[in-house]
Amino acid sequence: MNAQGLFISFEGIDGAGKSSHVQALADAFRAQGRAVTITREPGGTPLAEKLRVLALNEAMDPLTEALLMFAARRDHLLQVIEPALARGEAVLCDRFTDATFAYQGGGRGFDWKVLEQLESWVQKTPAQPLREPDLTLLFELHPSIAASRLVGARVPDKFESQPVEFFTRVAAGYALRVKQDPARFARIDADQPREAVWNDVLAALRSRGWLQ
Ligand code: TMP
Repeated sequence: MNAQGLFISFEGIDGAGKSSHVQALADAFRAQGRAVTITREPGGTPLAEKLRVLALNEAMDPLTEALLMFAARRDHLLQVIEPALARGEAVLCDRFTDATFAYQGGGRGFDWKVLEQLESWVQKTPAQPLREPDLTLLFELHPSIAASRLVGARVPDKFESQPVEFFTRVAAGYALRVKQDPARFARIDADQPREAVWNDVLAALRSRGWLQ
């Protein structure tokens, strides 16, 4: 019998520093003998990575953007996430569906109800009527601090080059998702030294009995 799969997503506005904790958490799971799949959205499969390049670089209307995100998600769920969960692995996903609600819903102001409809179609899998993460680590940081962290870090993509007001709306989108399903989220204060943020990540996993 396989252990039960564990699906954990990492979320936050650009510059919140979530990605650096994905590998660290994978190492912690592996040290305790658990197989791990590390993946990301948009992306995670050859097709979804192609859709990522389009979504992050081409101008398009918000519905087109949302559809590309969900198309990439559908392929990723069926090809990578569900099989890994069925093998009993921990799946660590750098962004998942909350990012669509935050960026396309909050940031772009796109219709929340339409996103919920798309979510219900795309995340219905043979294994689950609505596949959602078991835990979402939400890295929270004031948008102006996140923006200052991003300056000069790399060539910004379409989202990273948005003004601070956009990220204020994205953060509000995340807050609404938390309000709709608080038990799924662990809110991590990302405005701390890296070690303190990591300790909060560990505490969130330990309190759920998923790490020793
Ligand atoms: P990343 O830089 O964390 O890999 O994320 C890629 C960008 O794509 C980031 O700016 C957030 C954005 N994004 C959306 O707008 N909608 C989505 O559904 C996802 C998954 C990401």
